[in-house]
Amino acid sequence: MQKQLKIKIARPFLPLINEKKRIKFFYGGRGGGKSYAFADSLLLLGLQKKLLVACLREIQESIKDSVHRLLSERISFYGLDEFEVKETEILNRINGTRFIFKGLRSQDIQKIKSLEGVDIAWIEEAQTISKKSWEILAPTIRKDGSEIWISMNRIEENDPLWILLAAHPDERTLVCRVNYNDNPFCPDELKKQALACRQKSPSDYAHIWEGEPLRQGDYKLIDAHKVRLAMSPKIKECSSPLVIGLDVARFGDDSSVFCFRRGRLCFKLEVYDKKDTVELANIATNIIGTHKPQRIFLDAGGVGGGVYDILRDRGFKEVVKAVNFGAKAINDERYGNKRAEMWDMLREWFNEDVELISNERLYNELCAVNKKYDHQGRLLLEEKEEIKKRLGHSTDLADALALTFAEPVYDRGRIQLYGNGKVIIEDMFCEHRQNKSGW
Ligand SMILES: Nc1ncnc2c1ncn2[C@@H]1O[C@H](COP(=O)(O)OP(=O)(O)OP(=O)(O)O)[C@@H](O)[C@H]1O
Ligand SMILES: [Mg+2]
Repeated sequence: MQKQLKIKIARPFLPLINEKKRIKFFYGGRGGGKSYAFADSLLLLGLQKKLLVACLREIQESIKDSVHRLLSERISFYGLDEFEVKETEILNRINGTRFIFKGLRSQDIQKIKSLEGVDIAWIEEAQTISKKSWEILAPTIRKDGSEIWISMNRIEENDPLWILLAAHPDERTLVCRVNYNDNPFCPDELKKQALACRQKSPSDYAHIWEGEPLRQGDYKLIDAHKVRLAMSPKIKECSSPLVIGLDVARFGDDSSVFCFRRGRLCFKLEVYDKKDTVELANIATNIIGTHKPQRIFLDAGGVGGGVYDILRDRGFKEVVKAVNFGAKAINDERYGNKRAEMWDMLREWFNEDVELISNERLYNELCAVNKKYDHQGRLLLEEKEEIKKRLGHSTDLADALALTFAEPVYDRGRIQLYGNGKVIIEDMFCEHRQNKSGW
């Protein structure tokens, strides 16, 4: 009994333990205390009587994806030694309460039957649950008095579970919004992050921290009007270092694109179709010799990796940098991957007085990309394949431009370092012309 008294459930979540409802639907922004309160409430109820608790999510590739860890941490925090934490389940040795962990998408009919005796099903990160998963699950949780607890951070107006359960709740459904400012345990650090976000971007704040879904117009990453404005001539010359983005075609019908940018001025696109890795490396070599860029950022996923290897082998490793769109971002608290980070830098670039080469295909590509957020509220972009279906082609030109934002590039003076880092570019090309290597 003493131990149960130690578990304090924050006020907004008291209905979890005090009310009888078929569905308890809690939604809100980051840091609302949902995960902790659900875990604590389930442990409390699981101390009071024997329960079978299923902790569910759409995809659970390993137990690490589940709330197993959070429950274990809360068990140690409260010193609840009647709970035995096993690798894939948690058991109350005294009264037989059991927590099991499952991903819904991977369930076949046989496995889902094991959920028939469940007293409480907790669906965490419910924004990702599909209508199909719900339709299989709902009739399976069929024990008299059983409850389904849902915690979600809304993504868009029509998240399936929102539409099915919360948009027009019936009398057996409790719908509650809880945000970080309702959470008495919210760490100061999170509050600071929320305030900083509110100052920087009210619409991101409303979505990430206040639990609002993204509005229709908010899906687009880049403002079409700003792209149009940028496509009118205004800058004669720019002395910032030359940075080139090279997006290498992944499939037969995609193009390889070099995009040239100096600071606020993006002045040139070179588009090549159907080139193999050696041909592209040769074109890049010529561009290096002629334009002497400070950096070429090259998409090294797929075929691009081969082009990078050749250029590195030719001594250009100081100037050519491989970028992997799926890799970790420099600021990985804010961005789900490198691709999202580069594109967001590009979006911010349009807030300056910039000039972009006028090109309708580039315009369409830039305006086509939708944004989304991962479970941690980090920015992600819509899948390339999705955009391609809508546009009819890949975002090759825009990706090449986005690549120029892979890392900040500083002007290092007139001498460009190539080769092993000690050779100036004129030496490299001069030497090769003399020995007629035939690039
Ligand atoms: N009962 C509690 N005791 C101590 N700290 C708590 C408690 N509940 C919440 N917190 C603190 O508040 C933070 C946010 O809570 P939680 O992760 O449960 O929020 P959430 O609504 O699930 O948000 P997210 O969308 O970020 O997952 C936790 O990281 C923790 O620091
Ligand atoms: Mg959570």
